[in-house]
Formats: sequence, C-alpha cells, structure tokens
Amino acid sequence: MDYLEIKGNAKLQGSINISGAKNAALPLLAATLLSKNDVQINNVPNVEDIKTLLTLLEHLGANYSFKNNAVSINLANLNSACANYDIVRKMRASILTLGPLLARFGQCEVSMPGGCAIGQRPINLHLKALEQMGAKIDIKQGYVVASAPDGLKANTIVFDKITVTGSENLIMAASLAKGTTKLLNVAKEPEVVNLCQFLANSGVNIKGIGTDELEIDGTNGDLLELEPIEVIPDRIEAGTYLCAGAITNSQITLKNLCTEHLASVIAKLEKMGFSLEKQESSLTIFPAKIINPADIETAEYPGFPTDMQAQFMALCTQANGVSVIDERLFENRFMHVAELIRMGANIKLSGHSATIEGGFLNSADVMATDLRASSALVLAALVANGTTKVHRIYHLDRGYENLEGKLLALGADIKRLKE
Ligand code: EPZ
Repeated sequence: MDYLEIKGNAKLQGSINISGAKNAALPLLAATLLSKNDVQINNVPNVEDIKTLLTLLEHLGANYSFKNNAVSINLANLNSACANYDIVRKMRASILTLGPLLARFGQCEVSMPGGCAIGQRPINLHLKALEQMGAKIDIKQGYVVASAPDGLKANTIVFDKITVTGSENLIMAASLAKGTTKLLNVAKEPEVVNLCQFLANSGVNIKGIGTDELEIDGTNGDLLELEPIEVIPDRIEAGTYLCAGAITNSQITLKNLCTEHLASVIAKLEKMGFSLEKQESSLTIFPAKIINPADIETAEYPGFPTDMQAQFMALCTQANGVSVIDERLFENRFMHVAELIRMGANIKLSGHSATIEGGFLNSADVMATDLRASSALVLAALVANGTTKVHRIYHLDRGYENLEGKLLALGADIKRLKE
C-alpha cells in the first residue's frame, strides 16, 4: 500500500488546473446505459471511482476507451443487467446503474451498496420512488432485484429527504418512462444539473433544471441518441485546494473551475479572513492577516457542502479562537477527528457537532478512513511541525486526480512511498 510523506510548515505558490468532477462524471457514465449509440464524455477525471464504474459497465457488455480525460463508450453489445457485488462493494455510487438498467431492460439486479465509513448510506428513497413508477423491488441475497416488465410509468414523486444519487437515479429512470414524471424535493447540486443537461441536449424534455422540481417527458422506452458532454469542474477538489492555500496562508490560483459552484465555500473563507479574487474561470486566494474561527453547518446545495466539512475542520485548527462545525447530512462523518487529535488538534465532539480550538499541529503517522477525511489529513500535514505520513491513501486515489503532482506544482514537499 502507498503512503504520502509530507513536510510541514509549507508555503505554497503558483497555479494548478482543476479536474472534472468525479460526482458529475459518475452519473453521466451511468446515463450512457440509456443510449443506443456511441457516447463521448470529456473532462473525465482519471480517478479510481471512474475506473471502477467503467469496469462495471464493461461487465455489462459495454466497450470503452478512456484516455486524455475523454471517455468514448459503445453500448451496442450490452448483454447483462446484473451489477455484481464484487464491483459494487468497491464503490457505492454503482447504485447509479439501477435506474438506467431498469429503464432499459425492464429488469435488473444491482448489489446493495452497503454502508461506508461516513454512515449507513441507505437507498430506501431510491427504491420507494422506483416502486412509485411501477417497479417491483425485492431484496434477495444482498441484491436489489427490480422488474418493470411493462416499462416504468410516469408519476408524481416527492423525495422525503434530498438525495443526490436518488435524484439522479430517478431522473434517468423517468427519461425512458411512459408519460411525464414530476420529481419534487430533488437535489439541486451542479452534478445533478450536469446530468439533466446531458439528457436535455439529447432530446429529453426536462422542465425546472437547477430547481428542486423537475418535470420529465419520458420516451416510453425509446433509447436515446446521447450528444457529447463535458464534465463540470470539481467544486470539491477546488475547495480542497483553496483550503491548502488557506491553511498554509499562501497565495495560489486555481484554473478551470466554476466559481459560482463554490459560493458557500468562498463566503466561508472570506468570513475567516481570506480574500479571494475571481476571474472568468479562475480563482486566487490571498493570505489572511488573522484566521478567524468559523461557524459551519453542512447542508444540501447551495448550502455548505458536507464534502468540504473535513477540510474546513483541518483549517479551523489554525484559526484564532473556537470554531463550531455541525454535520447535518451524515451520522458518522467525523472519522478524521481522531487522527487530527493525534496531530495535536484540540477538537471536542458532541453528537453531530464538533468544537475546534485553534492551536499548533505536530507531525504524526495518520491513517485515512474515507475520501474527504484523507484530504483533511493532507491539509493538516502541510501546516504541521515536522514530517507527517498519511497511510491508506487509496481513499484519496478514489477522488483526487494526481493530488501529489498538483501539490508539488504548488511547491509542497510531498512524496508517494510504498509501505
Ligand atoms: C452524494 O452521495 C455524493 N456522492 C457524496 O459525495 C455526498 O457527500 C452526498 O451526495 C451529499 O452531498 C456522489 O454523488 C457519488 P445522499 P449520496 O443520497 O447520493 C440519506 C464524496 O465524498 N439518504 O444525497 O449517496 C443519506 O443517509 C461523496 O464524493 C436516505 O436516508 O448522498 C444521507 O444522510 C461522499 N435514503 C442523506 O440522505 C436514501 O435512499 C444524503 O444522502 C438516500 C439517502
């Protein structure tokens, strides 16, 4: 297994390019299951989660090429509707194949994704909504066994909770259904909008894109001719590097990003004392004289993203005072806290709330537990006294393209080594 060795007290400078968003590319790839033609998806990040989903699509009969961040995929020989446990267990977002497979084949088996470090991660809302579209859903030996032999039927569906992949699954299912489906309390994340644009560009009539209410005219089972699409920039990768600039109190510039997708993150950094300069598709962060403590509550988009919570907790260890972070979306998304405390952070947990008193961090051997927690440990290592080793960085490789290459380009002293 690889680990990262990171020298502390780092000062960063220069600029890097932001990659395409993993959480946009995954539903776009799943949506190719709705197409009858070859499909081209550009600006796809070269990360493990993408490779895992491509492997799953290949097991279903698709052929693809993935080079220079471009995927071209051919689905003419799709011959299976069973997403098996071996692959799904590696990446829970494989559940995104459920909606399109059921819509295309009228039946499918997709392994239950299982929980992960940050929480139980149920899919009850996905299943309930598909049943409301006429699907028969059983759980057998850990698989979701779904069937809709006469095709999915339009309905009005209200999600009890806002679910990103639940919304994406139902948007894909509704695109091939019979009639006009209304989805209410839909996630408004930019990644959901990217999926809607992909489908709308290809002839699916969708009203309300970008809002929490969608009206989708289904094609009644006709497969789609999907036009090429560009994956949007990764707002969470961008937010992570903004925190790298902030925690080392450096001036750095990020290119190829969409600043409007980062409004809540930018506002929080400005409140903490950093100034940020926006250009067309780039953003520069400047050092703060004093880093103010933060008061953060995670929420669905456009609120403060839960995927930025761990990174901001690392930043709050450098604030001048006491910060409070309230994690509202997941029941166990504080796995990074114990590791930060081992580096000397002063953090107290009470339920889904963390209190962080600013102070100094010291290097240590630390262990990554999930994708965003591992990026928080890298940020902490950049500012700690001494040299830190971050172990189990396969978590990082799932969602950050060339992380050490980008940090090296910004002047960090970071090496990827073998255990
Ligand atoms: C997506 O996960 C993202 N993953 C997550 O990013 C992100 O943290 C999350 O949305 C919230 O923004 C992808 O897009 C691939 P949810 P998802 O369904 O869709 C509850 C990362 O780091 N819920 O929006 O699985 C659930 O337990 C990952 O890149 C139900 O109760 O999240 C949670 O409390 C981590 N029943 C809340 O809703 C359901 O059927 C939000 O979950 C579905 C969800």
